[in-house]
Order: sequence, then C-alpha cells, then structure tokens
Amino acid sequence: MSVTVRVPAKVNVQLGVGGLRADGFHDLANVFFAVALGDEVTATAGTGVTLTCSGPDAAVVPLDDSNLAARAARLLATHHGIADPGVHLHIAKAIPVAGGMAGGSADGAAALVACDALWGLDTPLDTLLELAAELGSDVPFALLGGVALGRGRGEILEALPVGGTFHWVFAVADGGLSTPAVFRECDRLRDEAGTGSSDTDVTTPDADPALLAALADGDVVALAEALANDLQPAALSLRPALADTLRAGTEAGALGALVSGSGPTCAFLAKDADAAAAVAAALRASGTCRAAHATYGPVPGASVLGS
Ligand code: C5P
Repeated sequence: MSVTVRVPAKVNVQLGVGGLRADGFHDLANVFFAVALGDEVTATAGTGVTLTCSGPDAAVVPLDDSNLAARAARLLATHHGIADPGVHLHIAKAIPVAGGMAGGSADGAAALVACDALWGLDTPLDTLLELAAELGSDVPFALLGGVALGRGRGEILEALPVGGTFHWVFAVADGGLSTPAVFRECDRLRDEAGTGSSDTDVTTPDADPALLAALADGDVVALAEALANDLQPAALSLRPALADTLRAGTEAGALGALVSGSGPTCAFLAKDADAAAAVAAALRASGTCRAAHATYGPVPGASVLGS
C-alpha cells in the first residue's frame, strides 16, 4: 500500500519583517499564497525512514535526516509512541530547492499527511499544525494552503478570503540562497542604515489593508501594486543579478514583480493565463534565469491523491 500527497509551493505576497528576537527569529506579517507549482510525496511501508527524490533538482536534495520529510515522519511516529517507524518516502520534486518557495517545508508537511494516512493514525488537523510548527516556520502553511496571514515567526495562521484565481510566473535562479543568511543580511542592512535591527528598534509589522482588500476582491492590478517583501533588499544585496530578472519580467508585461520569500526565485503577477505564458517565454529567452514556470493560485494545502 502507498499514499501520495500533493503539496503546493508558496509565494509571500507580503513579507513584513520585524526586528530580531532573542530566540533568533523575526516577528513577521507574512501573507502566504499557495500556488499550483508543487511536489508529490509518496509514502510506502518500509524499514526505518528512507528517502529517494526525482526531478531536475534531485541531486541537491539531502536524503538524510536533515530532510524535513524524514524529520516529519519521525516526529509523527514519536508523537504517537511508534518506537520503530517503517516508511519509504519518495519526493517527486518540482519546487525549486533553496529557492524561497518553501519546498523543503512543503515536503515536511506532505510527509506528515502521507505517514498519517499510511499508518492509519487520523491525527486531528490542529495536532498536525502543532507538529508542523516544530519542524519549521513555513511548514504549517503548507498543510493549510490557500492564502493565509502568518504571524509570530510565520506559524500562527489565519486563513484569508480570496476573490478569484491569480496567474503567476516563477523565474528560477542558478543555485539557492540560505534563508538564515538572507535574514542576517536584512539585519546588517538595517544596522548599516542606522535604524537598528532588534525587536526593540523595529516596529512589529502588520498586514497591509490594501493588499488584503485586493486579495478579497480578486483585483490583480491592486494586488500587483501592493506586493511587498522586506527581505528583497537583502536578497538583491547577496544576489545583485536578480535585479535583471525582475526587470526582464516587468518589461515582458508582468503587472508586479518581487523576490519570492528569501529568494532567489523571482515571482511575477500576470493579468491572465495568456499573459503569464508570454512573461514565462520572455524570461526564458532573456537569459536572466535558469527556468521559468507559469502557474496559478490559490490552491489547497497538502492533500492525499490516492492510496
Ligand atoms: O523556521 P525555519 O527553520 O524555517 O527558519 C530557518 C531560519 O530562518 C531560522 O533559523 C532563522 O534564521 C530564519 N527565520 C527568522 N525569522 C522567521 C523565520 C525564519 O529569522 N520568522
């Protein structure tokens, strides 16, 4: 018997970053948006917790216990008092690795759902969300999907209303960026600018009412205007060439452009599916990215496909 779970990538349509807390995290106003670009994780009965991965980035995916999918399987087993979990997890990877789209977090969420079904545990969603938060700040959202406001370090979620489908293009860069390194660079830039970087220096961010209204109304022009990512200056500082990618997508007709999360993937909002296909083609031809994918959202969180 096997269980396959499909799980979405995310883009942050708003990523408001507060000051550095004593625990090493930053308080966020994080508006997550789940897109149809996603991974599939298949759980099969096995011995111990083992992993394999396929897809264009498979060679750079760790297959040891540092992989969030393996950690998720062990965490769920421990929670239920299963001393010797047996599962093989295969990750069919489409989400860029270390790309700012929470691909590793998505695989962790998918493994929680897949193992829960394989082992017949029927864990309540609230408990899965708590386990997900232990795995990482972005893992709970991958369970929930849709569009949600994440507070705290991003794990305290509130689902948001959305009035339609939005069309996106993602430009994948060569190589990844380390999320902690991008947060550190954000702090360094704030210190350099004289504003300070601690949680006593920086006011706690809030969701932008104009952005929430644009989402609720399904208004793509207003959403494009409201897109905001406080980590973007840090990602551009570490990877200046991303400015060329953002410019290429905008010149090709994207209504809005921003770095996705901590980057280096760049996200473009398009008027409709045809415009998204044209922006993706122009980005591929521009030579400013390794690949470009047109997709849409919002879509649901980690869901079982079949067993
Ligand atoms: O929670 P997660 O393991 O995904 O976070 C990875 C790293 O990203 C953290 O160790 C921290 O350096 C940074 N981070 C942060 N503030 C957040 C989320 C992540 O500084 N809200």
